[in-house]
Amino acid sequence: MHKITLINGDGIGPEISDSVLKIIEASGLKIDWDLQTAGSDVIEKEGTPLPNRVLDSIRKNGIALKAPVTTPIGKGFRSVNVQLRKSLDLYANLRPCKNLPGVKTRFENVDLVVVRENTEDLYAGVEEKINENTAHSIKIITREASERICRFAFEYALKNGRKEVCCVTKANIMKLSDGLFLDVFRDVSAEFSQIKPREILVDNLCMQLVQDPTRFDVLVLPNLYGDIVSDLTAGLIGGLGVAQGANIGDNCAVFEPVHGSAPDIKGQNKANPTALLLSAVEMLKYIGENTYAKKIESALFKTLSNGYKTSDLGGELTTSEFTNKIIEYLI
Ligand code: NAI
Repeated sequence: MHKITLINGDGIGPEISDSVLKIIEASGLKIDWDLQTAGSDVIEKEGTPLPNRVLDSIRKNGIALKAPVTTPIGKGFRSVNVQLRKSLDLYANLRPCKNLPGVKTRFENVDLVVVRENTEDLYAGVEEKINENTAHSIKIITREASERICRFAFEYALKNGRKEVCCVTKANIMKLSDGLFLDVFRDVSAEFSQIKPREILVDNLCMQLVQDPTRFDVLVLPNLYGDIVSDLTAGLIGGLGVAQGANIGDNCAVFEPVHGSAPDIKGQNKANPTALLLSAVEMLKYIGENTYAKKIESALFKTLSNGYKTSDLGGELTTSEFTNKIIEYLI
């Protein structure tokens, strides 16, 4: 039986985790979940939102499903998400973005993948206050991190039958940092003759994505642009409630939705569990459980195609009603 770490998060995390666990159980797949609490709810008892036991569990199991965790603004704690990705060296953040059956959006045939560098850039947490009126944040870009994320993007493209990898930077302005990322992209692209390399500036990318996202295939970006652009691409396919993600390193992988803990709808039985469910489906594929992954994915697609949706997608179902519908279609 697979042993998988489960971080059920806070905010809407526990509600959507319950939903996903019920669906996986109803599919017939047995998983030994190693539940690890994290986030604002454990700070008081354990003095940190990310206790070492959570990291130890992921290191041991090699795989985790993670619901969102709140990052209190300006409270002195580093983001659990940033810390987790850095501590486990989960350098690749993979965010596939594809239209879902039954979810009508402005564009059809959207099928792109955001590959975001996950360990450095302005998220390295190197900031200093110069005086009352000035603060500095340091943007760190290294050859090593750029090389492995660009290589990850090309290898992903190759394995998944993709045609093109597009490097997204602002190298015209940040000539040294983004310039290095772009230089490394060009070097790595030379090793992958089957995949077409392309380059674009991030502002132009945003404009083109909202005009016609079908122009893009695989995008590789430094951390900050990747974070922002992947929320934009989530909007192209129905919003944060349906956008899945994964953080992958050489030794472990953590599957989690793009969205946050949505405190505005916490405890209201309104949250859409689709993003976490699709992240779990990718996780099942990753551990070789393709039959169960397909079974759950088709039940979800049937549910959406037949018009059963939560309110973020214009539907009327609560989280539990939507969960039960998916379970009905599993059988
Ligand atoms: P958010 O993603 O939590 O919410 C943005 C909007 O989308 C809200 O209106 C929310 O109700 C809606 N939304 C998000 N997920 C939804 C779902 N599954 N179903 C229906 N509606 C959904 O972003 P926000 O408000 O900026 O962040 C809240 C907290 O989450 C912050 O503390 C932030 O740091 C944290 N966060 C955590 C992440 C993680 O754990 N990976 C990722 C992003 C943010």
